[in-house]
Amino acid sequence: MAKPKYTTHLGMVDILPDESPKWRALEQIIHEEAAKFNFEEIRTPIMEQTELIVRGIGQLTDIVSKEIFAFKKGDSHYVLRPELTAPVVRAFVEHHMQQRGGSQKLYYIGPMFRAEKPQKGRQRQFHQFGVEIIGSDDPVADVECISFMMQIYKRIGIKNFELKLNSVGDPESREAYKEALRDFLKPNLDKMSELSQKRFEKNPMRILDSKEEEDQEFIKKAPVIQDYLNDESKEHFERVTNYLSELGIDYTLDPYLVRGMDYYTRTAFELTSPDLGSQDALAGGGRYDLLVEEIGGQDTPAVGFAAGMERLMIACEELDINLAEEKSVDVYFVTLGDEARNWALSHLPKVREAGLSATMDYMSRSMKAQMKDANRENALYTIIVGGNELQEGKFTLRNMKESEEASLEFEAIVEKLTQKLL
Ligand code: HAM
Repeated sequence: MAKPKYTTHLGMVDILPDESPKWRALEQIIHEEAAKFNFEEIRTPIMEQTELIVRGIGQLTDIVSKEIFAFKKGDSHYVLRPELTAPVVRAFVEHHMQQRGGSQKLYYIGPMFRAEKPQKGRQRQFHQFGVEIIGSDDPVADVECISFMMQIYKRIGIKNFELKLNSVGDPESREAYKEALRDFLKPNLDKMSELSQKRFEKNPMRILDSKEEEDQEFIKKAPVIQDYLNDESKEHFERVTNYLSELGIDYTLDPYLVRGMDYYTRTAFELTSPDLGSQDALAGGGRYDLLVEEIGGQDTPAVGFAAGMERLMIACEELDINLAEEKSVDVYFVTLGDEARNWALSHLPKVREAGLSATMDYMSRSMKAQMKDANRENALYTIIVGGNELQEGKFTLRNMKESEEASLEFEAIVEKLTQKLL
């Protein structure tokens, strides 16, 4: 086939009709489970002010320094949202959502944009679903967030994963830890990767996330943050782990888990799957108690997570999980001649009004070709309409699976189909 003149941008993917039912099924599951948790949906614009994203996520993070799609139009600096935590917090502050009372338990589904090098499970436009609980300091909020995340995978049937858990402490604990980390790494810094040397002064904790070979032996022996948590952070973390154990949610403590955004405080977590290959993170999240204030709101604690939907789809494929039923249409009108076509067109709405799906041939094909098309469309029934049928006022209803036929008046056909299919 000839190469098309226009294609999608690198790392941006069309979701074609064969795939979209899976996406709708997944979205449906997320909406249903969110309703059970009493989470409310929030939808924010695809574009945000660059300044919000830089401030919210952190100037030195990979996302901001390398991966944002940003452009200027007039005097405004736009960025395609790389994630939704900062935008949701922006909306919370902008609309004074604290006035709604209680903590805001928000969820979302939508596309995000990061200019990363595409590979399996890593795209430039990808989709996340996630939750942000804003206004609660209580470990219950952390655990509800994690429970919701786990519930989605559980309902779908993805069980093979690991929940990694850490506390990255509050600012006080973190300062003490960063100092200890610098003291430990300094004597060997010249043996470490260039990137780690760069991170050493401003953000030594990010060194723990390094994938560079030469850094690993030092990371392995580095001090762990747990030994530097102050009493408050320690107690919060203990309560989170206790609640998880009570709920029977397994987790692995990973003292070197640091996340890719600067806003995290205290609880941090990631869900990884061995079915995903190198991009193995299904989801990730944590607390961000300082972010609301950082972007202009009042001091308000918060916690959330986001999950990659393409990665969830890949896991489903690996595990042979079908999210959507095979597509089908209830009724296909097969017609012979113009009069029959007109009749079918005017009777389609009556079938649809009865709550059934119905279609007909749009291409003036032969009856044989229409029957073939009805099979391709996986039609459960065909209604066969020709000159004789129109004269008699009785039409052939064919059950395509059973290959059974009956000759009935149109009203009787609709009644029979409604009883059988609804
Ligand atoms: P994140 O870890 O950057 O966190 O992204 C969450 C998930 O999105 C990842 O675990 C992964 O499954 C998916 N993901 C990320 N980048 C890509 C990509 N390029 N292609 C495909 N999937 C990808 C956040 O975004 C935070 N906002 C999570 C959060 C919410 N923290 C607190 N609240």
